[in-house]
Amino acid sequence: MQLLRSYSSLDSTNSEAHRLLSSQEAYHGLAILAFNQTEGRGQYGRVWQSQAGQHLAMSIILQPDNMTPDMLPLISMKASLGIIRVLHKVDPRLEPKIKWPNDIYLKGKKLAGILIENSISVHKVQHCIIGIGMNVNEDKFSDSLQRAISLRNITRQLHDIEDIAAAIRFEVLSLIDVQNNSWKTEYDQLLFGLGETRPFEHNEDLIEGKIHGVNLNGKLCLDIPNEGIRCFASHELRWIL
Ligand code: BTN
Repeated sequence: MQLLRSYSSLDSTNSEAHRLLSSQEAYHGLAILAFNQTEGRGQYGRVWQSQAGQHLAMSIILQPDNMTPDMLPLISMKASLGIIRVLHKVDPRLEPKIKWPNDIYLKGKKLAGILIENSISVHKVQHCIIGIGMNVNEDKFSDSLQRAISLRNITRQLHDIEDIAAAIRFEVLSLIDVQNNSWKTEYDQLLFGLGETRPFEHNEDLIEGKIHGVNLNGKLCLDIPNEGIRCFASHELRWIL
């Protein structure tokens, strides 16, 4: 069975994954990689821009046997951790961080983003598409992407995108197979801003709190002066950087 299917160009690897699922050609664990993406999609309906041949654009298809919707936050957490494990293998000196909920940061800039699309029926997750975009061999970014950074920018080397994609696929699927929460301590230590007091936008207000951690429901918990620890879902908070 093929584990990783590579395309020279696609509209979006997530869209290709949807098409394969609709035509019943998809199976659990299949990953789709495109060296060029013409209609990449980001979080919150944004466009995801990438430079042809320099960027890792991949979608991993999950068709879990026994996953209930309350387990979905774990998918995004495990995908983030899987990416970081691979980055540590690429170069143990890298210090990547998980910027809750779905970004990977390096030196305070965005290295990778994750877009997860699910299909849920009744109380069961039918499938999950984990879309991962990572800046790998880009040298420079356009002015609109000033908060972006690539692996090459840090390591000063070109990297094999297919090798990195295969390694991420393996790590993410291995973590998804883990039934206990043994991975959570590792995740917590990698959290961007952990222990720091940071401002956020919440319901059009500004709130400030010390980042305490992410709970197993995927909520970010802040220690807020005079209020104590409060945990927020991703749609309830916006980082102010
Ligand atoms: C984000 O906004 O940070 C998430 C970006 C996710 C981009 C990836 S690239 C591979 C996959 N296909 C898409 O169209 N989007 C995701």
